[in-house]
Amino acid sequence: METLKGKNVLLTGATGGIGSHTARLLAGSGATVFLTGRNTEKLRTVAAESGTPEARTLALDIAQPEAVQALKAQYFSQLPTIDILVNAAGIGIIKTMDTLDDADFLRSLQYNLYAPFLLLKSFLPAMKEAKKGLIINIPGVLGKTPMAGAAAYSASKYGLTGMMQSIREELKRTDIRITNLFLGGVDSPFWDTIDLRVQRDKMIQAEEAAKAIWFLCQQPASGVVSEMVLQPFNHQVI
Ligand SMILES: NC(=O)c1ccc[n+]([C@@H]2O[C@H](COP(=O)([O-])OP(=O)(O)OC[C@H]3O[C@@H](n4cnc5c(N)ncnc54)[C@H](OP(=O)(O)O)[C@@H]3O)[C@@H](O)[C@H]2O)c1
Repeated sequence: METLKGKNVLLTGATGGIGSHTARLLAGSGATVFLTGRNTEKLRTVAAESGTPEARTLALDIAQPEAVQALKAQYFSQLPTIDILVNAAGIGIIKTMDTLDDADFLRSLQYNLYAPFLLLKSFLPAMKEAKKGLIINIPGVLGKTPMAGAAAYSASKYGLTGMMQSIREELKRTDIRITNLFLGGVDSPFWDTIDLRVQRDKMIQAEEAAKAIWFLCQQPASGVVSEMVLQPFNHQVI
């Protein structure tokens, strides 16, 4: 495993169930993290817990181009390079076609697909200049297998998978690696607003999902984990 000491990491969704544990694990292993989320209070808490100074945090709506431009400016005012980008922001709208409306569909695409696109447009050039980097995305299993009620969510997550696989082809002559993490159900606030009967106590613990990201961040640059699948033992769908 490669050390995280001296690595500069941009983590989105740092206020979330998976992201907050990831922030603590990465910072605890010596990485220099820059944390983003939407909720200022939660961001302050995660920053304090991970020993991240306020200057290396930004609360923003990650699907707004101007906000992502501001993030880029603040990030590079604090850190000279970006070694790892972890895209851990996202929303879950799980509704069947009877109740799914236009706003649900568009919001799913905006936060789960357009936002990672905006981040790539802002941060990929610096990785290209350095000719190295690692981008970790979390399409989840619904980014490669269907589920009833997941039309909008899967559209966004299959889109994310496809976008990242295409960009991987563009980057073949660089040392920029892309990892897509296909997680099954993780017990996190993600499920708080989803009207579906699920067994949260049987899901993967958020900290365990974060440990997978932490592990991926330490893979030696000589190889690449292009995909990882981590599912609850009692609910394996792929
Ligand atoms: N939980 C699961 O079962 C599961 C399974 C497979 C894949 N995933 C994926 O894993 C990622 C993390 O999920 P999680 O379980 O940690 O969910 P979570 O606890 O709901 O956290 C979601 C994170 O995304 C942030 N976020 C959402 N919309 C945003 C926006 N417009 N601008 C900025 N930040 C925004 C949230 O910020 P605030 O909290 O500050 O609003 C929060 O930090 C998501 O991409 C999700 O699709 C989750």
